[in-house]
Amino acid sequence: MSTSSFSAIVLAAGQGTRMKSKLPKVLHPVAGKPIVNWPVNAALEAGATRVVVVVGHLADSVREVLGQHFGSNVETALQPEQRGTGDAVRCGLAPLQGTQGYVVILNGDIPLLPTRAVTALVDAATHSKKPLSMLTGVIADATGYGRMIRDAAGNVVGVREHRDCTPEELTIREMNPGVYCAEVAFLEKSLANLRPQNAQKELYLTDIVSAAALDGGVASITWSMDDLHGINDRFELSQVDRAMRLRIAEKHARGGVSIRDPQRTTIDADVEIGADTTIEANVTLRGKTTIGEGAFIDVGCVLDEVVVLAGARLKPYTVATQSEIGERAQVGPFSHLRPKSKLGPDAHIGNYVETKETTLGARSKANHLAYLGNGVIGEDVNVGAGTIFCNYDGFQKHTTTLEDGVFIGSDSQLVAPVRVGKNAYVATSTTVTKDVPADALAISRVKQENKDGYGKKLRGAMQARKDAAKKGSAT
Ligand code: UD1
Ligand code: MG
Repeated sequence: MSTSSFSAIVLAAGQGTRMKSKLPKVLHPVAGKPIVNWPVNAALEAGATRVVVVVGHLADSVREVLGQHFGSNVETALQPEQRGTGDAVRCGLAPLQGTQGYVVILNGDIPLLPTRAVTALVDAATHSKKPLSMLTGVIADATGYGRMIRDAAGNVVGVREHRDCTPEELTIREMNPGVYCAEVAFLEKSLANLRPQNAQKELYLTDIVSAAALDGGVASITWSMDDLHGINDRFELSQVDRAMRLRIAEKHARGGVSIRDPQRTTIDADVEIGADTTIEANVTLRGKTTIGEGAFIDVGCVLDEVVVLAGARLKPYTVATQSEIGERAQVGPFSHLRPKSKLGPDAHIGNYVETKETTLGARSKANHLAYLGNGVIGEDVNVGAGTIFCNYDGFQKHTTTLEDGVFIGSDSQLVAPVRVGKNAYVATSTTVTKDVPADALAISRVKQENKDGYGKKLRGAMQARKDAAKKGSAT
């Protein structure tokens, strides 16, 4: 028998009080993506024909985030008051009225749940023909979770919430992860019968489990706890985030990337990395950062939405945002590429160089201590130590253009808007305020004068003054 078609309801209306946050719990990020995106993804990838996310607390922000990520692939249903998970499923079922077959129900706070767990659950439902199927997990300390209650024969007969457990029930190690697959007809009927008879005076979805036990039985699959941890507070968030990042590091490592220390590497879910690239310890790769083949990302680099092309070498503590680093380019240590920086092939940016909205052509170099803002730098340009592009007049940003082959001597300032023509030289310590023609030399520094013997004279006068002061204080 092939797996049945199914819809999915993802519960995401709760405030997540235990997070103690202004942001709804389900929007806190795990590996760079909102918590709720993960179960939604698992439902979609498992083949759900429709996915309805139940929203409530700060519904508009949750809707907006879902829209950005999933567009029309996901619908939302409003739960006006957060009266419990059972009430939430009632709300989620409303738009699915008239559908047949099965509905998968997922708590919105279980990001580690893989697609294959959803598929296995729907398979189990299809084969068992029971009105309700669910995953369960076994954990040493089930504090906070609902406990699975079984009869002497081992059949599931209910779920008891932690707060409602007897001392004996609290010792049960089999927990409810909040992952169910129900027949639509059974679900409608059992939800209608829910009553808020529990410690929290809420409508508990878990009460449909005892209803199913009396009405055809419950199929259960014991699944690895590694995939089932829910997030209720920020400590659980950090643990799930770490576990997710370890999975991401493993995926890259098995794809041919040397990840020096997976436990100390922070790679977001959408990052792509080419084979034969090395990622050293304490590197953070955020957003849609893409790294080509054979690149080297050294200790402590932080890249946010950055494209690094093949063979580039990022030395320790390079920080880059929304920028592109060309093939075989070298950056760092301690360089800062701010948004819209673009380095051509074999370009070099060295220590304490900051760039912003600046393009460097092939083989161009700025190796030490510089600020290059709003620059258009051609090929084979050399920018000396201490160069500053004075791009801002207090009101507007202006462009500095250095054409191919230009040489900028150390400690120069280029007051934008200004252009230095092809192969021109700017002498050390020049303040460039007007365009420099191609092949010219611009020099604006004061002429040097040497006064013979004056250094010695000065030294003598200073020493005498110091000696006199010492004598004065001794008497
Ligand atoms: C729930 C289960 C518990 C299980 C645990 C697994 C119930 C009654 N309890 O408890 O058996 O062990 O998950 O992690 O179902 N939500 C709504 N509307 C509401 C209330 C909650 O949409 O009115 C959503 C939340 O946003 C969340 C999910 O439902 O995504 C679970 O709610 P939560 O409050 O975290 O339930 P738990 O106490 O963890
Ligand atoms: Mg929870």
